[in-house]
Amino acid sequence: MIHAEDAAVTYRNGVHGITGVTIDIDPGEFVFIVGSSGSGKSTFMKTLLKEVELSDGEIYVGGTDLRTIRHRELPYFRRKMGVVFQDFRLLPNKTVYENVAFAMRVTESAGRDIRRYVPAVLSMVGLAKKARAYPHQLSGGEQQRCSLARAIVNKPPLLLADEPTGNLDPDTAWEIMDLLEDINKTGTTVIIATHAKEIVDTMQQRVIALKNGRVIRDIQRGGYYDED
Ligand SMILES: Nc1ncnc2c1ncn2[C@@H]1O[C@H](COP(=O)(O)OP(=O)(O)OP(=O)(O)O)[C@@H](O)[C@H]1O
Ligand SMILES: [Mg+2]
Repeated sequence: MIHAEDAAVTYRNGVHGITGVTIDIDPGEFVFIVGSSGSGKSTFMKTLLKEVELSDGEIYVGGTDLRTIRHRELPYFRRKMGVVFQDFRLLPNKTVYENVAFAMRVTESAGRDIRRYVPAVLSMVGLAKKARAYPHQLSGGEQQRCSLARAIVNKPPLLLADEPTGNLDPDTAWEIMDLLEDINKTGTTVIIATHAKEIVDTMQQRVIALKNGRVIRDIQRGGYYDED
């Protein structure tokens, strides 16, 4: 699903976001990207969406070479992926239902599929009763569940989540992680950048640790600080 080799990003001001990052992720994996603030987690996630350009190395996502993908293919490429951010990024003037339906509409899904599938996804994330609510009427956890629903409604092969629990209390954070695990069980590859040490330690999944933009650890199953 992901093949990154010697990937490097140097920002315009000369700061190195990531350096020499080599990571392979198979379809269906569940992966935590961990590391302290400024270690390069978000930079790596953004390179996977080509929101940030590589200055060296190569990255393939689902077989697509991000160095040579055409500019006009990028919106389609990004829409195929599910993306969840810490700050939710919901459309404020649309209801929960409309936010999720909108994600299907931009991929030109049939109206019949939208009417059938949006309610199913909303009940999967526990938001069936809030379908008519607007984002400002929701709690933080509910907003994040809505953004998850939006990210998975098109059944993406890959789901990227950057600090999806960053603004949430511990119980709600666990609900979101459980949902991400459920989504992974349906076959979606899930990559989560997070600081949530307790959750990473408990879930015992693959952990890739970054420090100063470099991979310092990559273990198949373990906790936040575990060594091989
Ligand atoms: N747009 C940018 N321009 C210049 N430097 C940047 C930019 N974005 C990030 N950086 C720098 O790149 C490095 C990696 O930042 P990044 O945001 O990837 O870290 P992070 O691991 O996601 O941190 P956090 O846990 O705080 O979200 C940092 O030194 C940061 O200051
Ligand atoms: Mg970050």
